[in-house]
Amino acid sequence: MKRRAFLKSLLGLFGATALVSFSYPLLRFFAPPRSEARVQRISILKKDVPVGEAKEIIFNNTPAIVINRSGKGFIALSKVCTHLGCLVEYEKGKSRLFCPCHAGIYDLEGNVVSGPPPKPLLKFPISVEGEKIIIG
Ligand code: FES
Repeated sequence: MKRRAFLKSLLGLFGATALVSFSYPLLRFFAPPRSEARVQRISILKKDVPVGEAKEIIFNNTPAIVINRSGKGFIALSKVCTHLGCLVEYEKGKSRLFCPCHAGIYDLEGNVVSGPPPKPLLKFPISVEGEKIIIG
């Protein structure tokens, strides 16, 4: 009788362990994602980005670049290539952004000019207030 009770307890323990190990991932899957992503707002000085120049920043944990386009003003773009995620480089002389991984080329609006990237670079909201450029 004692042995039977022990085996029942052991079986119950195994069943409970199996139930928890199955249900926990299931609950995590259906739980809403945590809203840890805070919207960031940063500012840089206008004088740090003269016409034709660019400044690299980190915006919402994303490498980004602020470019002062001649005659068109400032734009803030993600540096993360939309193909496979390499970081694009600003080529001032060619007025473009170049991805060194697979030769993807973007114009200064972030649009794809050539290469494998499937969509434009992500643009961030930008405004100019006095001597500051506000991103976000
Ligand atoms: S990762 Fe940029 S072109 Fe492939």
